[in-house]
Amino acid sequence: MTTNDAPPALRIAGLHKSYGRPAVDGLDLLVRRGELYALLGPNGAGKTTTLRMVSGLVAPDIGRIEVLGIDLAQAPVEAKHRLAYLPDDPMLYGKLKPFEYLEFVAGLWGVDARAAEGRARALLDWLDLSQHAHELTEGFSRGMKQKLALAGALIHDPELLILDEPLTGLDAAAARQVKDLLLSHVAKGGTVILTTHILEVAERLAERIGIIRQGRLIAEGTLAELRERTSGASLEDVFLQLTAQP
Ligand SMILES: Nc1ncnc2c1ncn2[C@@H]1O[C@H](COP(=O)(O)OP(=O)(O)OP(=O)(O)O)[C@@H](O)[C@H]1O
Ligand SMILES: [Mg+2]
Repeated sequence: MTTNDAPPALRIAGLHKSYGRPAVDGLDLLVRRGELYALLGPNGAGKTTTLRMVSGLVAPDIGRIEVLGIDLAQAPVEAKHRLAYLPDDPMLYGKLKPFEYLEFVAGLWGVDARAAEGRARALLDWLDLSQHAHELTEGFSRGMKQKLALAGALIHDPELLILDEPLTGLDAAAARQVKDLLLSHVAKGGTVILTTHILEVAERLAERIGIIRQGRLIAEGTLAELRERTSGASLEDVFLQLTAQP
């Protein structure tokens, strides 16, 4: 937790996005530096749309987004350099091998080639992909692709990591590797924002949890605080109670 006056990792104010009907409908959110924040919500609640706006892939209709104090609308390149976004359906280039892919992504970010090589090696090792270094990614399993995409997101050492359902489809060992990686990012002072439908992940990893419903933040806090607000015993009870249709 920061003690100085540094701006938060993410500040969202009055965010709206409509696709005919509202997907994000007046969202306010603040994520502190060095925090692991989990965004939960039912299918269609607006989580992915929110993350896509924060990552600069989709323009908001109304609202303000600040990444580490940088206004995304005013300085999009500067803001985007400080973050990484891992979509829920990451795209890889099938005709590249893992190193080639990571070198390519590092090049896009302007990472020094030597630094990129060392980082790529460390990430592939950590994610247990080194033994597949000489294979084309088109032959990778879904989980392997997801891990490589995560390595790609981390290659430029971003301060703010934004991950859309990063653990879906991973086996237990891979999920553990990814969780450890996220915790180590936070331990080094980085910030992680993730969405998940695996409530146990939010329960175990997140310092704070935000619950979105119909494009709005309807509850937020530590697990203990959320439990206090409801009579629920588990996060699942809390979640179901808060997101139940009226
Ligand atoms: N490109 C798009 N075109 C039309 N509608 C969209 C588009 N993207 C999102 N929506 C709509 O916006 C709403 C929010 O979708 P979003 O993907 O943000 O939800 P989510 O919380 O990520 O859901 P899930 O848990 O299923 O991933 C949904 O009603 C969806 O149909
Ligand atoms: Mg989604």
